Amino acid sequence: MSTTLPLGRPTALAGAHPDPETPVPYAFERVQRDSDGGEVARLEAQNLLFEKARPLDQLPPTPRDGAILDLGSGTGFWSARLAARVPEGSLTCLDRSLELLALARTRLDAPGGPRTAFLHQDLRALDLPERAYDLVFTSMTLAHVRELGEVLARLVRALKPGGWIASFEPVQQARRFSDLHPPCPNLEFLMDRLLDVVEGRGSDLSVGLKIAHHLERLGLESTELRDYGSALHGEDARVCIREVFLPLAWAYLRHRWEPGLLERRLEAAAREVPAPHLWLDFRRAVVLGRRPA
Ligand SMILES: C[S@@+](CC[C@H](N)C(=O)[O-])C[C@H]1O[C@@H](n2cnc3c(N)ncnc32)[C@H](O)[C@@H]1O
Repeated sequence: MSTTLPLGRPTALAGAHPDPETPVPYAFERVQRDSDGGEVARLEAQNLLFEKARPLDQLPPTPRDGAILDLGSGTGFWSARLAARVPEGSLTCLDRSLELLALARTRLDAPGGPRTAFLHQDLRALDLPERAYDLVFTSMTLAHVRELGEVLARLVRALKPGGWIASFEPVQQARRFSDLHPPCPNLEFLMDRLLDVVEGRGSDLSVGLKIAHHLERLGLESTELRDYGSALHGEDARVCIREVFLPLAWAYLRHRWEPGLLERRLEAAAREVPAPHLWLDFRRAVVLGRRPA
């Protein structure tokens, strides 16, 4: 099932189930194509904004020679930061996108870091060693898996006794995961339509709460759900709208809307952005749980 990638060589996704062609809620290649190649930059901008809330400070300590798995590692943004926690240990990136695994590999290819491994796997058919990891980490990935309970049970088995799961995933209080002040009606309208599509594809923006429930049921200790986020102001809020929200709206809505209509709405939304005192509340949750020792 698992493929440890040789450098840069494309490898077919192993395993008979699931069919790699089966649509998944978030398929990087689809979003990358629909955003005219802008999805890597969007993920980067989004993560840089979230990093302002210092979510890594919430993670439990990991032994210097410990083992970390970054599930749905994407561009390797968080993997690179997690590597610093285990300089004498190992870091494993897992993703279904070969292009993203290659990017993560480039990012982690610095001398002096931990041993690295790159697993080309589908979350829906995980093939992981048992009792192997001190920390299993995810960011914006469990929101895109419908088989949440099975995936989490598999991840718990992959944890060493005493090891932790930590997730940065959305937790939705209201339907929209961000609040804007002053209100930006065109942008908010676009965001609502965007969320229709995201949820229609099967992503779950309230997954944080469900992860916490599953982890408790699976017998993890110290299960916690900590809401966190950035209150973005002024230029940061504008960056979030220009580099995260508007590109997302374009990528997700362009094939659903008559183009002229979408372009006019995007322009109207972009005109709202320069408001001098714009505030944007950008929220996620950190979910934590420890396998009993
Ligand atoms: C929104 S991106 C987040 C990437 C990264 N964790 C971050 O925070 O920047 C979701 C990631 O999950 C991966 N992914 C989505 N569905 C997957 C699946 N069924 N199996 C494996 N990886 C999957 C995508 O390829 C992508 O890298």
